[in-house]
Amino acid sequence: MSQSKIYIFDTTLRDGEQVPGCKLNADEKIELALALENLGVDIIEAGFPISSPGDFESVRNISAVIKNATVCGLTRAVKKDIEVAADALKGAKRPRIHTGIGVSDLHITTKFNSNRDDIRARAIEAVAYARNFVDDVEFYGEDAGRADLSFLASMVEAVINAGATVVNIPDTTGYCLPHQYGEKIAYLFNNVPNIDKAIISCHCHNDLGLATANSIAGVMNGARQIECTINGLGERAGNTSLEEVVMIIKQHESLGLYTDIKAELLNPISRLVSETMRMPVQPNKAIVGSNAFAHSSGIHQDGFLKNAENYEIIRPEDVGADSSKIVLTARSGRSALAHRFQKLGYNFNRNEIDVLYRAFLKVADIKKEVSDEDLKALAVSHFPEVALA
Ligand code: KIV
Ligand code: ZN
Repeated sequence: MSQSKIYIFDTTLRDGEQVPGCKLNADEKIELALALENLGVDIIEAGFPISSPGDFESVRNISAVIKNATVCGLTRAVKKDIEVAADALKGAKRPRIHTGIGVSDLHITTKFNSNRDDIRARAIEAVAYARNFVDDVEFYGEDAGRADLSFLASMVEAVINAGATVVNIPDTTGYCLPHQYGEKIAYLFNNVPNIDKAIISCHCHNDLGLATANSIAGVMNGARQIECTINGLGERAGNTSLEEVVMIIKQHESLGLYTDIKAELLNPISRLVSETMRMPVQPNKAIVGSNAFAHSSGIHQDGFLKNAENYEIIRPEDVGADSSKIVLTARSGRSALAHRFQKLGYNFNRNEIDVLYRAFLKVADIKKEVSDEDLKALAVSHFPEVALA
């Protein structure tokens, strides 16, 4: 079966950088843009040029250094925004303008005090205007997750006719359930006559923890671009996490999809983004959390030591993580303890391990994690003849 490519659109430098405390300076943005290009992302959303002189400069600087990836600048459906973005993107080898407007009735009435026809007309005008500057124009229908379906379909058809090469269907508020988001994309494929003229993109937020699931539902129903960020950074609860969607697509070959991301760089870039943005990664974060390959309960440790695949579906080295860890806690079992003593160079027999295990549990009940130093002390105090041999 031939596989379809999923374009990875990274918005760490735009949606991710909007997060309070994640502001980057110009040099940091360039460093991250180069790392993203090296990772293999197809499109880098470099910023929102009209939002500040600093963001304009960043988009300009990134346009100058990026060689292969498309560099994208965000705008509202406003002529001045589009002109400024086009100016910032002038030096890019592959420039893209990302323009759009709210498409849910809530946004149309309470944000724009307008009506559907007027909003559609503004969208068409913005896309056509942006096409005067660049060949690659992406349209976003903000809050598409809560928009009326037939109106959304009419918008998508209209902006593709106006020249949009990519149409983004954002679940801006992270409201959709995966089957609803998937059905939305399927509806567009069934009801927009010119849909084959553009790439449909998923941009999902994580307010209910569903951003990754929704993006995958999107590509299972025909979307071919995912908008995501490293470590899932982004407004409020964040965006779809790049590392998660990339590894889901890689691990589930039956989806018939692939990306060009170098998976072995996922952990290094996660650390780089976390350090540069001064935003720690939660330990239990899939793929890149410090516990993603740590085993702490006795049952898991025993099974893992017999065959790593019992408890790991990804090899840590495949995503650039440190090797799997057996963490010794009060929930650990004898096999993990024996394994760790062996790694430290001690060969205790079964009876000796029984004795050491009882002593170990006393230490483990006091400490969260038992260290190699604690184990050496236990070995010396209980079996000095073996430990010091
Ligand atoms: O969440 C959203 O709708 C956005 C758009 C600006 C693409 O970030
Ligand atoms: Zn967003």
